[in-house]
Amino acid sequence: MRRLCFTIFIAILILITSCGSADEKRIGVSVYDFSDSFITEVRNAISSCSENDIPVTIVDAGGKQQTQNEQIERFIEEGYSAIIVNSVDRTASGVLIEKCRQNNVPLVFINREPVKDDMAKWDKVYYVGAKAEDSGIMAGELMADYWLSYPEADKNGDGVMQFVVIKGETGHQDTELRTEYFIETLLSKGIQLEKLHEDTGMWMRRGGYDVMSSFLDRSGDAIEAVFANNDDMALGAIEALQDDGYFRTSRFMPVIGIDGTPSGKAALDNGLLLGTVFNDAENQGRAAYNIAKELSEGRVPSSESIGYPLSDGHYVWIPYKPLPGLLLSGK
Ligand code: GAL
Ligand code: CA
Repeated sequence: MRRLCFTIFIAILILITSCGSADEKRIGVSVYDFSDSFITEVRNAISSCSENDIPVTIVDAGGKQQTQNEQIERFIEEGYSAIIVNSVDRTASGVLIEKCRQNNVPLVFINREPVKDDMAKWDKVYYVGAKAEDSGIMAGELMADYWLSYPEADKNGDGVMQFVVIKGETGHQDTELRTEYFIETLLSKGIQLEKLHEDTGMWMRRGGYDVMSSFLDRSGDAIEAVFANNDDMALGAIEALQDDGYFRTSRFMPVIGIDGTPSGKAALDNGLLLGTVFNDAENQGRAAYNIAKELSEGRVPSSESIGYPLSDGHYVWIPYKPLPGLLLSGK
């Protein structure tokens, strides 16, 4: 008898949990790599928005586009009401948009901007990000500010800034535009430049460490400035510089990053990072969630309903902000 009751209890439990979900709304989120610090902040923002609201399922593509395609297919099959994607390879966006269009599942891209032609393929496609050019300009302004205020920055006194760049993933809009506008901004201020080296650290701290170590092996003290396309790589570079004897006594190296992650900010406060540019993870996550929520509920998102200004009807741009470190703000 007892066993029978137990079996019936379990059967009812299974019935209850498997029913009721048919028209429940759920938002699927796939991000390119869980180990990325900035993206981790964005996904934390998304999951905190979902508390007491439409639930989210967040999955890790582990750096593989194939895995991400399968995750999106699964979200579609399982009847998710909207999908947020931080694509592994932004050139794959067209295929994802097509798949979602066929199944009428709205899509919000974050952080890796699909090309305009792909965005134009369907009206239920949105993008939330930050203008990469602006971060390059702000990073360039921070470096220019240092160079023009501290004559000793020109270590060999030749009137030229010998610099290196530690880049993010090749082809990523943030890598290409940050680097381009950083350089352009310094040049526009009349600063002469010589790029000694550039290489990719793949956004990762370890990558920044390895790339900086190899730059130091090749050019040593000829390097006068370092621009890393994000804070994690800047922190890796600082570690390599410390291993080489920098940041003790008078051996200083100006290192600029981007993101203003908690560890980036800590390095600003202790004077290791010259400056960084705040990339607002919280608001990017929140805007993406709000758009996905509107779409899930069958509405067309508007600036008012999502709480962020929509440009061209389909884009939300969250502004960057320069964060000068001790040497720059203390002047
Ligand atoms: C950038 C960010 C990097 C990295 C990258 C991933 O916007 O600055 O730290 O997270 O996105 O796509
Ligand atoms: Ca010089």
